[in-house]
Amino acid sequence: MKFFIDTAIIDEIKEVSEWGIIDGVTTNPSLIAKNGGTLLEVIQEITKLIDGPISAEVKEGLAKDMINEAKIYAKLHKNIVVKIPMTLEGIKAVKVLSKEGIKTNVTLVFNTTQALAAAKAGATYVSPFMGRLDDITPGTGVFLVEDIVTLFSMYGFDTKVIAASIRNVEHVHQAAMAGSDIATIPFKVLKEMLTHPLTTKGLQIFADAAKK
Ligand code: G3P
Repeated sequence: MKFFIDTAIIDEIKEVSEWGIIDGVTTNPSLIAKNGGTLLEVIQEITKLIDGPISAEVKEGLAKDMINEAKIYAKLHKNIVVKIPMTLEGIKAVKVLSKEGIKTNVTLVFNTTQALAAAKAGATYVSPFMGRLDDITPGTGVFLVEDIVTLFSMYGFDTKVIAASIRNVEHVHQAAMAGSDIATIPFKVLKEMLTHPLTTKGLQIFADAAKK
């Protein structure tokens, strides 16, 4: 499973770019607002730090407007993936963009029929939101990811699954076990993934032994 970082904070991306295990970046309007810069500025900065897919989200609206905005982002860099909201207009936009070779990530996916529609339209990625689903029905986020993975394999879709809205290490584990192609993970969770209380304790035991 690939690891993307789910952030628009440049310092976080700079730090994880040195770890060597991050395959891409996803941003959204809330994350861009937290960082401070405009979407174009932030995205351009990210392309210098990570050589992998970078999702930039268009404003929700009519297909023609989302297509125009998508084309602006796609021209910025070869790694740009245009994030399109899961609406009827969004699906129309994905169909046109995929025909033109522009990569898309259909976001705010909460059921399998939305995922299938996005895949049929030619989406490069779909993003089921595990955490937000768990917020309303605890424990169901993982089943959504698992079902989408199964359906894409069953019907031969190339669309990749990005497990999104990841809130904790258990979500990453669940996404991996469900066969998700990618998990997009906040910085805090990425750091937590690398730790375990017994690793910390084991290090202390070794350090004490070395002193003796
Ligand atoms: O990037 C989309 C998604 O990962 C947002 O997560 O925590 O706002 O539900 P969250």
